[in-house]
Amino acid sequence: MTRIDTSVDVMLRVNGSVRRLRLDTRVTLLDALRDELDLTGTKKGCDQGACGACTVLLDGKRVLSCLTLTAQCDGRDVTTIEGLAPDGRLHPVQEAFIRHDGFQCGYCTTGQIMSAVALLQEGRAGSDEEIREFMSGNLCRCGAYPNIVAAIRDVAGRGTE
Ligand code: FES
Ligand code: FES
Repeated sequence: MTRIDTSVDVMLRVNGSVRRLRLDTRVTLLDALRDELDLTGTKKGCDQGACGACTVLLDGKRVLSCLTLTAQCDGRDVTTIEGLAPDGRLHPVQEAFIRHDGFQCGYCTTGQIMSAVALLQEGRAGSDEEIREFMSGNLCRCGAYPNIVAAIRDVAGRGTE
């Protein structure tokens, strides 16, 4: 029986570095990041688009990496949580999550932070309702929602209310 080779060459710019991979067309961006590139800060929760734990930025826009095929990302920019603090200095959103206790177990936290970074760039933090609406795809089983909203509100410059 002839086996059909379904692998492709893909070039990604991950956190500013060019990474070349040869992988099966069905490999998700989440699995490529974690298993091929050893960037395990991006978490696998549901693996079916329901929890937001796997959120990364693709060309600056947030995507669920468990629903994104790596082959679709050829030539594109990917930012993961590791890319927010390249020189070891925390991103302002990371600092705010610490300041406001925006996590408990931490499993959802990297996805929450990547979504928060995008939300702030999109100018969607004008009110707590808006923050809640645009963070609604990121679930937290520990129920850290009020502190997550407080952290984002703080970075948005709306104080601690
Ligand atoms: S792991 Fe991707 S949405 Fe849950
Ligand atoms: S901090 Fe535990 S799931 Fe969010």
